[in-house]
Amino acid sequence: MKKLLAMIMVLALAMTAAAVAETLKMGCSADFPPYEYYDDETGDVTGLDVEIADAVCKLLGYDGVEVVDMAFDSVITAVTSGKVDFGMSGMTVTEDRKLSVDFTVPYQTAVQAVLILKEGSSLTSADDLFAEGASHKVGVQNGTTGDLYATDDLETPGLATMERYTKYSDGVVALMNGKIDCMILDDQVAYAFAAENEQLAVLDTDYWTEEYACCFPLGSELGAQFSDALQTLIDDGTVAAIIEKYIPAEEAA
Ligand code: ARG
Repeated sequence: MKKLLAMIMVLALAMTAAAVAETLKMGCSADFPPYEYYDDETGDVTGLDVEIADAVCKLLGYDGVEVVDMAFDSVITAVTSGKVDFGMSGMTVTEDRKLSVDFTVPYQTAVQAVLILKEGSSLTSADDLFAEGASHKVGVQNGTTGDLYATDDLETPGLATMERYTKYSDGVVALMNGKIDCMILDDQVAYAFAAENEQLAVLDTDYWTEEYACCFPLGSELGAQFSDALQTLIDDGTVAAIIEKYIPAEEAA
């Protein structure tokens, strides 16, 4: 009898493990190196967000993470509609987004930067965007904080006209073709694009600072567990080691 009970318990445990051991689906816009982008060799989406998410999923007992690539402005809807389990896409915590989703603890800070053509740009510093009578053509990714800031601070006061792209890669092509004067985007991503393409350069700004976190449906129990596990990996240095791998300290701004 004892043996039978023990066997049943082992079976039950194995069944629970099998039920838990699955992947969590992460929604992101995979146009955002070094956070999420297509690896040229493997054709898979990789990056520091993907590695951090994978580590958190494994700590929670899942097999790992499954990436679902989409437009950035679809990520929150994908999360709230249950198409994906969570969103992680270099996503900045904003008060407005908090009305639709819960954010985990933040895992990275960023500043908005200005990506320009190295030669012949009409911009020599980010401040030129705000100069009296300025009229630049500014590219952003649709629905990003770069879009929000540029809309409020440049387009609304009549200092710029804006082009909004679904994917950053389209904006970068437009910049290279001289269709826009600059792209406003997150600093490390601007550096990554400039590192890949010697025609591009980055103008630093010290305004528009923000924090990245993962997002879950409002009130999500999984979100709270994920946040705790992420905090554990921040505390034990795992997150810093992954960030360092993609953004070596000497390169970081
Ligand atoms: N941090 C900015 C935001 O949250 C831009 C994020 C864009 N992410 C991406 N994977 N394209 O709005």
